[in-house]
Amino acid sequence: PVPRPLAGRHVLVTAGPTHEPIDPVRYIANRSSGKQGFAIAGALAALGARVTLVAGPVTLATPAGVDRVDVETAREMAAAVDAALPADVAVLVAAVADWRAEAPAGQKIKKGADTPTLTLAENPDILAGLARSDRRPSLLIGFAAETEHVIDHARAKLARKGCDWIVANDVSGNVMGGALNRVHIITADGVETWDEAPKDAVARKLAERISDAL
Ligand code: C5P
Repeated sequence: PVPRPLAGRHVLVTAGPTHEPIDPVRYIANRSSGKQGFAIAGALAALGARVTLVAGPVTLATPAGVDRVDVETAREMAAAVDAALPADVAVLVAAVADWRAEAPAGQKIKKGADTPTLTLAENPDILAGLARSDRRPSLLIGFAAETEHVIDHARAKLARKGCDWIVANDVSGNVMGGALNRVHIITADGVETWDEAPKDAVARKLAERISDAL
C-alpha cells in the first residue's frame, strides 16, 4: 500500500493570481501561472491530506483528490480561506494583488479627452491575517518571490508576516510561468537551499518536509 502520512490532516493551499477589477473588462493582477501552488496541492493530497485549494483565475486542471474553490479577487480569496478553516497546515502560494481599484466602474470606461486616474485601496494580507488569527494553523507557510537579496528579504518577511516558514523563490530568471523553480526554505532554524528542479519535484519535496514537521 502507498504510505499516506498526511491522512486525517486538513491542508489549505492558495494559488494563482487575484484579479482586481477596474471595470468589467480590465483588471489589476500580479504575474502568476498557479503551477507551483497547484503542484503543492496535488503533492499534499498524494500523501493523504484533505486539501482545500483556493485558486485565483487560472486555467489549470484540478489535481487529483483536491477540493478546489475558485475566486477572483483578494477579498474573495480571504473569505474562502476563512470559510475553509480550521486547517492543520496552510501553504499560501497565491500572488495576491496588494491593491485593488477603490471604486471599480460598473460599465467599461471609454477613451476620451481625459486620461482616467485610478485610486487604489489596500487589499487584506491573507497570510499576516491568518498568522494573527485565533484559528491559526499550527504550521503556516508563506511564499516570497524576490528578484534580489532573496534570503534577506525572505527572512524579513518571515518576521513581518508571523509565519513559520517562508519558501523564497528566486524569480530573477525564467521562473514565471516556467517549469523549473529554485527555492530556499527559511525557518527560525536557518536556511535550506534546494537545487533548481521541476515545480512538481519542488512540490513533492515540500510536501514530504511538511509531513516530517507534523
Ligand atoms: O508581501 P508579499 O506579497 O511578498 O508576501 C508573499 C506571501 O504573502 C505569499 O505567501 C502570499 O500568498 C501572501 N500574501 C497574502 N495576501 C496578500 C499578499 C501576500 O496572503 N495580500
